[in-house]
Amino acid sequence: MNKHITTYGIIGNPLKHTLSPVMHNTAFKKLNVDALYKPFPLQDDELDGFFEDLKKEDSPIFGLNVTVPYKEKVLKYMDSLTPLVEKLKAVNTIVINKKRKLTGYNTDAPGFLTHLTELGFDLSDKRIVILGAGGSARAILTTLCLIPERPQSIKIYNRTSSRLDHMLNEIREYVDVSIVEPAMSVDDLDIELADLLINTTSIGLNEEDPCLVDEELLHSNLLVYDLIYNPAKTTLLKMAEERGARIANGLGMLYYQGVLALQHWAEDVEISDQIKNDMRQALEKAAYV
Ligand SMILES: NC(=O)c1ccc[n+]([C@@H]2O[C@H](COP(=O)([O-])OP(=O)(O)OC[C@H]3O[C@@H](n4cnc5c(N)ncnc54)[C@H](OP(=O)(O)O)[C@@H]3O)[C@@H](O)[C@H]2O)c1
Repeated sequence: MNKHITTYGIIGNPLKHTLSPVMHNTAFKKLNVDALYKPFPLQDDELDGFFEDLKKEDSPIFGLNVTVPYKEKVLKYMDSLTPLVEKLKAVNTIVINKKRKLTGYNTDAPGFLTHLTELGFDLSDKRIVILGAGGSARAILTTLCLIPERPQSIKIYNRTSSRLDHMLNEIREYVDVSIVEPAMSVDDLDIELADLLINTTSIGLNEEDPCLVDEELLHSNLLVYDLIYNPAKTTLLKMAEERGARIANGLGMLYYQGVLALQHWAEDVEISDQIKNDMRQALEKAAYV
């Protein structure tokens, strides 16, 4: 590793298809800073050593993103956490200061919310349906319960109901979950009455994956948001579009979590709209062209 170039990167496994390097290296180039963003694919048993090295004075690394499967596992290496991370129990961005102290942030759910704002979707009083109870569902659900624009209701379904119960029990220790109602089946989600349907499951990653909900229930007053961005249109999004619903994939969320992460690393630097646009174009090109 070049000890002199200020280094940022992403840890996770696998990292073969990560789009974060292209987005952040575009920003560094446009900002004219001598910095490099690279993937660090790590095995579980390499985490301790990696974080030990990170604490050393001569480490060139000043910021990291964290992805699957380490968002929860890295908590123990942090010197401080933001109040949001204390509730989410997941870190996707790490800032390392000059004294080599590590602060854990989460920009995933804020990135999702920023994309919704861009789409002109106001969450106040809305009826929301969530599919899934994995890491991203937890971040989004917790955040939706915390925002001042309080949704009217959140119905949530997961294939493995025990995982959903466990997640809700943990979240309710920190957050008021009175608007949340777990559903025993997809049919109990009242999709026909909902304003926003969020897919946080990995169903849709393969083109031949089914649509998890009855397509007849999708309607023109609904925004269907799929966290998956590759393929650009999952079966769910295709069906929703056919039924006249508005659709969005998760590339916007990925983009905004990246912009927010960069802003944490470059606290004193103004990231202009032009640079943000360049980051987005580089991301879209890498994802779809
Ligand atoms: N756009 C972005 O920036 C962004 C950010 C984070 C994640 N994502 C995407 O979001 C998706 C989920 O990520 P995650 O980190 O939350 O994953 P995760 O923690 O592994 O959770 C996976 C979820 O998918 C469900 N699932 C898996 N196979 C299923 C099946 N055959 N039928 C029904 N449900 C199934 C799981 O249900 P069980 O509990 O029953 O297994 C669980 O709810 C991934 O596709 C990921 O790429 C996108």
